[in-house]
Amino acid sequence: MNLQPADKFTYEQLTDAYNETRVDYMVPMPMNVARLMEYCRVYDVSLEHSCVAVEGDVALGLGMLGVRQGRGWITRLGVLPAGRRKGTGGALMSCLLKGAQNESLEMMWLEVIKGNKPAHQLFLKFGFKQTRELIVARRAPKAQLKEAVFDKVKRITTLNHEDAIILLSHREERPNWLNETESQQNVRNLSALLVELKNGGRGWVTYHAGLLQLTRLIVEVTIGDPTEVTETILTVLHQRHKRQDSIAENLSEDAKWLGFQKVGYFDSFRRIEMNRPL
Ligand SMILES: CC(C)(COP(=O)(O)OP(=O)(O)OC[C@H]1O[C@@H](n2cnc3c(N)ncnc32)[C@H](O)[C@@H]1OP(=O)(O)O)[C@@H](O)C(=O)NCCC(=O)NCCS
Repeated sequence: MNLQPADKFTYEQLTDAYNETRVDYMVPMPMNVARLMEYCRVYDVSLEHSCVAVEGDVALGLGMLGVRQGRGWITRLGVLPAGRRKGTGGALMSCLLKGAQNESLEMMWLEVIKGNKPAHQLFLKFGFKQTRELIVARRAPKAQLKEAVFDKVKRITTLNHEDAIILLSHREERPNWLNETESQQNVRNLSALLVELKNGGRGWVTYHAGLLQLTRLIVEVTIGDPTEVTETILTVLHQRHKRQDSIAENLSEDAKWLGFQKVGYFDSFRRIEMNRPL
């Protein structure tokens, strides 16, 4: 087995390799070429610093490295089911960490799905420690929204992509890599709603509205009760986008999450965020 930089491979080869390593994955997430290219662009994945483990002409596994201002992010790591427990996952981790060291990165980040013991053990072995648990939540479209919530609204302001980025860059809470302003900036056509409540509460949501789905939802409450303001903002949002289902990734389990649940979001699965200094 030898390790090669991922930029020696085409996106077609990387997509095939990724899908092969995930055939038995606990949360199925197959990729196609366009989606992998988009993923690498949005999350600043450097193929030069990403690694593919090869034996003969077979890709045994791969791991990718996102790079941003002193920080690295390990993602898409996987080994073919038949090739596991032979040191390949560990070799890929060492390769990614070496690449990160060469770039003088100071802190490494990653997420692992809660309950994925092999990967969790692997990351512990490489010195990663849990920082927090994050919720991936989903919501089906609903025809009926709570009328009483609309009575709380004083003013709604619709904002464009540039305004959304300004709001995101002023967040209080530390965002996860997926939700960082750098990621959101790389997404085209974000929308935002600023919602003011009659009781003085205030907050906003930024999101991407696709034809069938709302994604990249981020809510911030600037004034007022986090649960009430979140519920109100999301009720306003879903009244405007009645047909789409929604995904909100990497939420913290806090008072805002209660607001999400009140409008019909449910816990799909959880990720454990981990980091280690280099
Ligand atoms: C996680 C994964 C990449 C590990 O690859 P691997 O080639 O089997 O790993 P290695 O043989 O190098 O093992 C390295 C360490 O990982 C941990 N590990 C790997 N498989 C494990 C298992 N089944 N149970 C417990 N620990 C395990 C151990 O700490 C092991 O060290 P040890 O051999 O000294 O005990 C592989 O299981 C995989 O591809 N899983 C599916 C995709 C996935 O979960 N990716 C991670 C997404 S965050």
